[in-house]
Parts: sequence; C-alpha cells; structure tokens
Amino acid sequence: MTGIEFTSRISDIPVYPAAETYGYDGDLAMLASNETPWGPHDAVREAVAEQVAHLNRYPDPSATLLRRRLAERCDLPPERIAVGNGSCEILLAAAEAMLEPGAEIVYAWPSFSMYPHLAAMTGARAITVPLDGAGRHDLEAMAREVTHATRIVVVCNPNNPTATALPVAAIDAFVADLPRHVAVILDEAYVEFSVMQDPDQSLDLVRRHPNLVVLRTFSKVYGLCGLRAGYSLGSSDFKRAVDVVRQPFSVNALAQAAAAEALLHQDEVARRVERTAIERVHVESELAERGLETTESQANFTWVALGDRDEAEVMRGLGERGVIVRSGTDLGGPGHLRVTFGTRAENDRFLAALDETLAQPA
Ligand SMILES: Cc1ncc(COP(=O)(O)O)c(C=O)c1O
Repeated sequence: MTGIEFTSRISDIPVYPAAETYGYDGDLAMLASNETPWGPHDAVREAVAEQVAHLNRYPDPSATLLRRRLAERCDLPPERIAVGNGSCEILLAAAEAMLEPGAEIVYAWPSFSMYPHLAAMTGARAITVPLDGAGRHDLEAMAREVTHATRIVVVCNPNNPTATALPVAAIDAFVADLPRHVAVILDEAYVEFSVMQDPDQSLDLVRRHPNLVVLRTFSKVYGLCGLRAGYSLGSSDFKRAVDVVRQPFSVNALAQAAAAEALLHQDEVARRVERTAIERVHVESELAERGLETTESQANFTWVALGDRDEAEVMRGLGERGVIVRSGTDLGGPGHLRVTFGTRAENDRFLAALDETLAQPA
C-alpha cells in the first residue's frame, strides 16, 4: 500500500490481460489478438527505416502526409480526418470529449472490450444491448435505448468478438433515425475483411450524416499493430475534439511513415483479404465437420460455440499445445472461443490441437 489515492472510477476497470501461455515454451501460434500473420510490405519497412535517422525530432503533430493520403483515398477533406495512437486512442478521446457523469453511452454486448472503459473512466452510464441470436447488433433495440442523455452510440461492424456484420444500408437507416445530438461511432477495425459488401460504402455515410464517426485502424489488415496508428472520419468538430484531448505527439514518426506508405499498396490489402477469406472458409468448414458452430464471420477471426464442452478445459488443452486463442468468458460470451485466422500452418495446428483436446477424457 502506498497511501496514494485513486479516483473511485478506475477501481472497476480491469487491466488488459496478457495472453496466457500455459507454460508452453516452444513457438506459439498466436491466434488471440486478431492480428494478421504477415509482416509489413517491403516498401513499408523502407519507409520506417528512413525515419529512424530523424528520431531526434518530434513527429508531425498534424500527421500531414498520412492525413493527406487518407483524404485522397477516402475522398474526404483532411480537416475531417483525425489520427490516433491506434483507434483505441480515438475511442478514449471521444469518451473524454463527450462523456461525463449524467451522460450515457449505448453499445451492443458482447462487443469490443474497450467500450466499457469509456463509461467507467468518465463516470457516464453504459447501456448495453444484447446481440441478437445470430450474434449481430440489434439496431432496433439499440435505438430504443437512446434518450436525451445519450451522447455516443457505438456500432462495431464487423463486431468483435462475434465477427458478424450488418449491411451498410441498415446502419444508414439507423443513423438517419437517431437524434442529431447523438454521435454514432461506427467502429470498422475489421471492415476491409468483409466480403459482404464494398468496405468503402460507409464512407458515403460520413458525407451524409454529420453526427457519424467512422473509426478505422492500421492494426488489422495493414498489419501495423506494433506501431499503433488509427484514424477517424467524421466532422471537423469531432477531429478538433480528438486533437484537443489526445497527446499532440501520440502518433509516432515511424507509425506515420508506415501507415502513409501502406495506404499506397492496396494490392497488398486485397491479397491479404483474399488469403484471409480462404482461411476463413477452411477453418469454419473444418469446425463444422467437428460439429462446432460458428457465426457468419466477415472478419479475420471466428467465434466458436463450444456447446457442452468446458471452455476452460479447451483453453488449457490448446494452450498446453502452444495455441493461444481468446476465451469467450473474458469477452462477455461464456462457452465460446474467439480464434484469429493465421497462416494455413497455424490454423491447422489449432485444428489438430483442438482434436487432441476434445479427444481427452473429461
Ligand atoms: C473492434 C475494435 N476496434 C478497435 C480496435 C483497436 O485497434 P487499434 O487501437 O490497434 O487501432 C480493435 C483491436 O482489437 C478492435 O477489435
């Protein structure tokens, strides 16, 4: 005990857990964090290497080049684009800028583990709305929870951890029906992996709804989570609010250079999406053959219902074989596993470890 006093708000916020490795000391198959298994494109490595000589200088606080390239790619003015130290920083900045005691935030559950923090750290009230039976957002039920006190509604599309996605038209109608004082944060961390519709359809929604914020990241399909860069597309007021709240130099120079370069290689993005879709079909059909149900994934991971199998036992069995996935209990969905699609070798290792684990006597 140090005697230091902390605010009562933070006492309920859990520390993000490091992946449990179950004592396995060989090479791990890391399928727990929805990362991509591929390292950066050569041109991205070069862009990072070039920046190393200038690390005695602070990064550009406005991320001018990165925001210009994003503006070109998204066909929106740079004044409407904010960047952050991962999209998590923008979520936290949105909470700090918009939430306070007496305000409300509405989001589906289970959904991304960061959302509960937004209310917890600001003293706002969190209203959680259960997903429907297919693991999708129930937008009608969410709309019913909106009151004069609601400041933010978050829609995670595709949803983490269930991997399901809603059509953009449904989100369009949802936003159109909400009062203008409500900011809708459409978290599209995984949108590039969706084969249901053109991932860029939602950009048109940003042009039409001033209260909509689309949140995207370089952590997933661009494979840059180790550097931390994310961005939002919304009103210029929202961008300003993020810039006021976040640290001025939160997006480091290497991250800015890498992200700006990665945007120029959309052929690489398309290749990754295709390879992920192939692995998605492979893993999900193998799981179905084993009688294990998954939701309809539009992301780079799957949500597996374990039925009557014991989740903790399955987690341990996989972990002891060096396969690290996320437990549904940790993510608000007991009786499930969230498994990222890795390389074919990693995915087959997961399936073999699962077979061995399930064959063990209970
Ligand atoms: C739904 C969702 N949103 C946002 C993020 C945050 O990504 P980052 O802060 O790495 O950009 C994640 C990361 O896992 C996520 O799953």
